[in-house]
Amino acid sequence: MSRLSRCFNIDDLRHAAQRRLPRGIFEYVDRGTEGETLLCENRAAFDRIRLRPPVLEDVSGRSLETTLFGKPLAMPMAIAPMSPAGLLWHEGELALARAAASAGIPYTLPTESMTVLERIAEAGGRLWFQLYLWNDRKLSHALLERVERAGFEVLVVTVDTSVMPNREFNSRNGFAMPIRPSVRAAIDVALHPRWLLGVLARYVLASGLPKAANHPEAYRNAIFRKPPDDATGISRSMSWDDLRLLRRKWPRPLIVKGILRADDARKAVDAGADGIVVSNHGARNFDSAVASIDALPAIADAVGDRATILLDSGIRRGSDVAKALALGAKAVLVGRPALWGIAVAGEAGAHHALDLLRAEFDKTLGFAGCRDVQALGRDLLAEGTRS
Ligand SMILES: Cc1cc2nc3c(=O)[nH]c(=O)nc-3n(C[C@H](O)[C@H](O)[C@H](O)COP(=O)(O)O)c2cc1C
Repeated sequence: MSRLSRCFNIDDLRHAAQRRLPRGIFEYVDRGTEGETLLCENRAAFDRIRLRPPVLEDVSGRSLETTLFGKPLAMPMAIAPMSPAGLLWHEGELALARAAASAGIPYTLPTESMTVLERIAEAGGRLWFQLYLWNDRKLSHALLERVERAGFEVLVVTVDTSVMPNREFNSRNGFAMPIRPSVRAAIDVALHPRWLLGVLARYVLASGLPKAANHPEAYRNAIFRKPPDDATGISRSMSWDDLRLLRRKWPRPLIVKGILRADDARKAVDAGADGIVVSNHGARNFDSAVASIDALPAIADAVGDRATILLDSGIRRGSDVAKALALGAKAVLVGRPALWGIAVAGEAGAHHALDLLRAEFDKTLGFAGCRDVQALGRDLLAEGTRS
């Protein structure tokens, strides 16, 4: 049996990834912030939602297809932007982009990726680009022009990282950015030779240590060394005016990622956003934030008729996708599950993660008496679960 065929669900994939990765890297991906109450809450909130499955509905010939921004999607999912993909697998962003393309869904390349955006664009498929606005707005706007020239379809502007999150375990593991070499980290890496040879050594032999590849030349060593100044640091002063300016500069669909309040969703749509990602950043930023799935209904009610609503944070089962759609999302972003996939087996691993979610989602549709994703609605929710 291959490694992947022993992974029957996303949690199996997570455990397989844990065995393969140095602890510092595994925890960097896996964990939350401070007391990690939100990490638990993201799961608990999905589990609290119960469905009332109808019977004797014809659910043969089910279809998972939908459309997003006027284009067809094989299933209502996209891969979320996640900066360390290139540390989990050599050129992990390419693996994610290819897995997404063959699954018929978009991949979102993060600003901080270790593979340059023009190379990802060559891989084809539906590509979105996630933007962290830098302190030096001019550098961000120049990056935006490159993203547009490279043909990315959608811009995803992340707005929920207004301060540096408090990830104590990263500091303990010596994994705070920029990464500091330490005896502890060296032992950790030495104990994981497959990762050392299959990932790190391949970068070193090809082009040196991994870098923040989309940054301007002078700032490209930010992963292991401090950049020369703070010009490409994530802006702590980003405002609605910045968003409006990005809207004017970007001619294609624009999504705002990291909204948890209906009033902010309204402001984002008023500023010209075509879509909203209801997200708490996978519980990686603010431990006291609300679970995204709990924030979703009010946001869908407020702007669902004016914008495309997406959701992420805590999706681990196909039934979670169905619950998000029933509560008003058009699609979800898949986060850590895709990273566990590439950590275990690159593109094939990410594909496996998406296959697991697809199969579970399809079964949920069947049990819920739905022949297509449009049939998922609030009437499915058990009384008292959600209004
Ligand atoms: C390791 C890691 C790195 C991430 N990096 C980014 C990033 O660079 N930009 C961003 O907007 N979101 C980033 N995210 C958040 C994801 O886009 C997404 O919101 C989150 O992972 C969804 O939650 P889930 O992992 O529980 O599915 C990151 C998430 C993880 C796990």
